[in-house]
Amino acid sequence: MNYRVIIPAAGQGKRMGLGYNKLFLPLGGRALIAHTLDVFLQDSSCETVILSTNEEERELFLSLSLKGDRSKITFVNGGVERQHSVANGLSSIDAKEDTLVLVHDGARPFITREVIAKVVQKANDNGAAIVGVPVKDTIKRIQSSVVQETIDRSSLWQIQTPQAFRLSILHEAHQWARVNNYLGTDEASLVEKISYPVSIVEGSYDNIKLTTKEDIYFGEAILQAKSQ
Ligand code: CTP
Ligand code: MG
Repeated sequence: MNYRVIIPAAGQGKRMGLGYNKLFLPLGGRALIAHTLDVFLQDSSCETVILSTNEEERELFLSLSLKGDRSKITFVNGGVERQHSVANGLSSIDAKEDTLVLVHDGARPFITREVIAKVVQKANDNGAAIVGVPVKDTIKRIQSSVVQETIDRSSLWQIQTPQAFRLSILHEAHQWARVNNYLGTDEASLVEKISYPVSIVEGSYDNIKLTTKEDIYFGEAILQAKSQ
């Protein structure tokens, strides 16, 4: 099943605190985003990579050292929030096309083709599918530094990307969000708002999003383990 992927890459990496976009952090000698891009560029089912970037960083993205076919990349401008960066990518696709669209965080370099294939298959069957893993920790609700309750974690999952959708569904969800001024932290939250059922497939705990400084040594360790 062929698909296109939108990769939002126009953030600033504030929580990582490097003073530059964390996607250019070197991991195993290459920029973080180069690892992410190569997974999709080397996947024959991936037709196009729509990369949403800050315009002033375009040259940096163009000079990345990549192993895959860089001619599959098309650029769009990022927006103020991640959701806007994805929306810009979405509007670059002809709305009439019958295609599957994936959204994958630039900051998740350890996604595998196996998990991509699983979520693509599920979205092809059901229209909307996301990747996640069951929560491992005990989760409590806290207010004013005091525990309010322990939440039953048996039905809680941590959500990752990729998230995969039939184009028409993702379009409708983004349109709803625009009209209602709704800002979500992922695409599925918008699709939930239009009451379309979102399926889940189990991913892998190492599909981390590099977000804060300590994720750098987790990232280095995962990369090393994978290259053995
Ligand atoms: N992103 C984007 N456009 C934005 C904000 C984020 O394309 N306006 C992208 C990031 O580049 C990243 C992904 O969305 O690949 C997930 O976002 P996050 O991990 O929050 O990255 P940043 O926004 O860069 O980090 P922070 O929130 O700490 O500033
Ligand atoms: Mg952010």
